[in-house]
Amino acid sequence: MALGLCLCGNWTSVRLLSVSTREPLLVPLTVWGKVITNTPAKSACFFFFLILLNALCEYIASWQKEKNVFLNCLDRHALSSPEKVALIWEKDEPGSEVKVTYRQLLEMTCRAGNLLRRRGVKKGDCVTIYMPPCPLAVASMLACARIGAAHNVVFAGFSAEALAERIRDAQSSTVITVNESVRGGKVTRLKDTVDEAVRGCPTVRQVFVAMRTDAQPSGILQEMMSEDVVCEPAAMDSEDVLFLLYTSGSTGKPKGLVHTQAGYLLYAALTHKYVFDYRDGDVFGCVADIGWITGHSYVVYGPLANGGTSVLFESTPIYPDPGRYWEMVERLKINQFYGAPTAIRLLLKYGDQWVRKYDRSSLRTLGSVGEPINKEAWEWYHAVVGEGRCPVVDTWWQTETGGICIAPRPSEPHAEIVPGMAMRPFFGIKPALMDGEGRAVTSDDGSGALCLTQPWPGMARSIHNDHQRFVDTYFKTYPGYFFTGDGARRSEEGYYQITGRLDDVINVSGHRVGTAEIEDAVNQCSAVAESAVVGCAHPVKGVYAFVVLKQDAREAGLVAQINDSVSDKIAKYACPDHFVRRLPKTRSGKIMRRVLRKVAEGDLDGLGDLSTLDDPATVQEVIRGHRDLAAERRP
Ligand code: WTA
Repeated sequence: MALGLCLCGNWTSVRLLSVSTREPLLVPLTVWGKVITNTPAKSACFFFFLILLNALCEYIASWQKEKNVFLNCLDRHALSSPEKVALIWEKDEPGSEVKVTYRQLLEMTCRAGNLLRRRGVKKGDCVTIYMPPCPLAVASMLACARIGAAHNVVFAGFSAEALAERIRDAQSSTVITVNESVRGGKVTRLKDTVDEAVRGCPTVRQVFVAMRTDAQPSGILQEMMSEDVVCEPAAMDSEDVLFLLYTSGSTGKPKGLVHTQAGYLLYAALTHKYVFDYRDGDVFGCVADIGWITGHSYVVYGPLANGGTSVLFESTPIYPDPGRYWEMVERLKINQFYGAPTAIRLLLKYGDQWVRKYDRSSLRTLGSVGEPINKEAWEWYHAVVGEGRCPVVDTWWQTETGGICIAPRPSEPHAEIVPGMAMRPFFGIKPALMDGEGRAVTSDDGSGALCLTQPWPGMARSIHNDHQRFVDTYFKTYPGYFFTGDGARRSEEGYYQITGRLDDVINVSGHRVGTAEIEDAVNQCSAVAESAVVGCAHPVKGVYAFVVLKQDAREAGLVAQINDSVSDKIAKYACPDHFVRRLPKTRSGKIMRRVLRKVAEGDLDGLGDLSTLDDPATVQEVIRGHRDLAAERRP
């Protein structure tokens, strides 16, 4: 039976929840103790367990029966230190940061909560937020939490069609957006995208618009001004829904993962504090967009629950130049910097001078997330950005896990960190590696499919509208285990290294997308008969589409046509880089993606067993096509 851990409504015990039936089973708090004391370094772990227990007790005390996430994130800090800065909005225009104190954020959120309530949003509703990182986006998320509505933040780079699909699935009647977004100096009319999306969403009753590029307070901000700054929080059970967040799976349809109140918040706060060594007074700089889980947990909920100061980054790593991150670190005195390997690899190419130009002495911890970080990028991050004195934490986790599950820290002070390895499971996380026969690998040194053997507070509880898909995706492959979809290796020392996805999900520029989603978009071009999309190693992007044309189709303009279709149906970032024409298939008609992946990576010696191919000549054609394309693109 698959189990999920949650903190229950009356907060007197920790209980396990059967994911298949969602029936609660009472277990004592010591379940956490067992997890930790079973690991090798018992004394250190016991110490961690005490910290964890202490944190749990603090939460239990601060959140008695039926309280609200909001009180934990805002009210208590606004009461104890109202003038402390909660958010620093690092706007696209460098040097134009806006600071928002806990008092101001509380007021802004209460006004937004009152407005939503007055306009009919009720406990249990779901509000879609389609906004770039800005204080009002955070206030909107927290306003939903305050009045008991779930929020569904959709990354503001998604197309109208992708947005509409998410609004429909979430059955949102309210959407909040901005007139225009500004990123890398480029203005995009987000409101137009929303208008186009809601035409296909009969559930939408109202759209609130904030004026990002209008100096006059108008739109939602103006409406909020007439609302009261006091907003009665809805009474919420710890297992009520906090938010939905759509992410890609291995089928074409994105899944709305459901996260609940108390367990999620506890886990985001604890991991934020212990993985990054976040201390009171620090400035935490996570540059992820709030449209992804990283933004939810480490821009909004984790830092705010800890009463911290969090940076909301609206720009890009290279705007106006490749020194942007480090100039910001100097100006805002950032203590922890958390970013994606794709950006690190991009910046590495521009050279050290862009980093060295700025004072980075405030930095204490550097973090990486979203995909494996290669050794070269890790070492550059450590030696150049961190001047060799900041621990680099390669943090492994997923939208499904709610927070970091494997990372080099916390650990004993000065414990070794191996470049490019996530290494150590967080408190209460017990990974297992499964072999081809579905058995757990017992030797220290081994590799396999990464599963988690025990529930943890931050885990998603369901897929919105499709609990069966949740059970099937995560708990059926290895009965009794949560299957992550990733492969991993364990070293002799017991450290974990993530080797990549085992299913058809790829990472493009740090964003997660299913190959099936891209194939659906490519196949909608009239000239395309069929296609196969694979990810390939590429410093920044890496989507490779193999496309078979219909017999009478003409090639002229095809690449532009395919790219338009992908950017209309998903987002620009998912556009493929390369195209060739024939698909190697097995005799039963299955596309051999393994072969395509190897060709895309240029690893022709690693093609493996080709004996099951229907027509081996297709492989040669694919290889030839790939070579021609490479030659064509060479300057
Ligand atoms: C990948 C992002 C290697 C992994 C927080 C996972 C990683 C997927 C790492 C989740 C890492 C994330 N090393 N791979 N440190 N972190 N991944 O849901 O394949 O957008 O399953 O959550 O990103 O992506 P998601």
